[in-house]
Amino acid sequence: MGATLDITGKTRVFGCIADPIDHVRAPMVFNPIFEARGIDAVMVPVHVAPDRLETAIAGLKAQLNFGGMAVTVPHKLRLMELCDEVGRQGRLVGAVNAVKFDAGRRMIGDNFDGAGFVAGMRAEGHEVTGRAVLQLGAGGAGRAIAFALADAGVSRLVIHNRTRSKAEELAAAVASAYPAVPVSVGDADPDGCDIVINTTSSGLHDGDPLPIDGGLLRSDLLIAEIIMIPERTKLLDVALEKGCKIQYGRHMLDHQITLIGEFLGCLSA
Ligand code: ATR
Repeated sequence: MGATLDITGKTRVFGCIADPIDHVRAPMVFNPIFEARGIDAVMVPVHVAPDRLETAIAGLKAQLNFGGMAVTVPHKLRLMELCDEVGRQGRLVGAVNAVKFDAGRRMIGDNFDGAGFVAGMRAEGHEVTGRAVLQLGAGGAGRAIAFALADAGVSRLVIHNRTRSKAEELAAAVASAYPAVPVSVGDADPDGCDIVINTTSSGLHDGDPLPIDGGLLRSDLLIAEIIMIPERTKLLDVALEKGCKIQYGRHMLDHQITLIGEFLGCLSA
């Protein structure tokens, strides 16, 4: 695929920063949107090694037509520290996945991982506000989702993690940030819950164990994944067999992209 020939001196430039860079998807998502909507912008891959991040950011800051970027591994934590301002979810999660430059070239960051999950649920007709949720996993993705669920006003959040201490640490952090939301650490048992979310990486590979005993799944439960490949994980297979409603993992990324685009201000002409 060639680069667009429609770039002019007025074109706004956005980036997607990563290392390694080959796998990044944001340019392939954003550039067709720009083209379809007639937006004079381009998103380019920005390949920066961790030890040159400060130098690269100083350069991007000085590049006045560079509006901001999607941020991925390994820069999410360090870039947060370099920001002049960080939104609440970014601060709570401790990492940013988008940063933009304002008119004074101050760098503002935030994290849309969790908000993308919640927006993806809502877009599929699955409200989380007022629902009791069992979250499996307390890793990086789980951390973002737990704060976003609390922010959305779930009626109860139970966090289960293989390594219990990580669930305890996350539950305490969520409870401290959202004192009105009952948060606890529990077993992988959906009793009393409406929604089960798998934020663990168990299900990515053939032969992975189910993150929850399939026998505990009731037909009135909604089972949500964040794993995108395979689309239909073993957990979702079992959930469908049991008559549960399901949510595929891809919706989280789809909606995160939209939220990042709105944040960067690159989705309108
Ligand atoms: P990510 O950034 O994708 O969230 P991560 O931070 O490495 O990745 O977190 C992976 C999560 O999946 C963790 O909650 C991990 O549990 P531990 O904290 O006990 O390691 C969980 N996980 C991975 N493999 C698992 C398995 N086979 N069974 C249960 N949980 C698993």
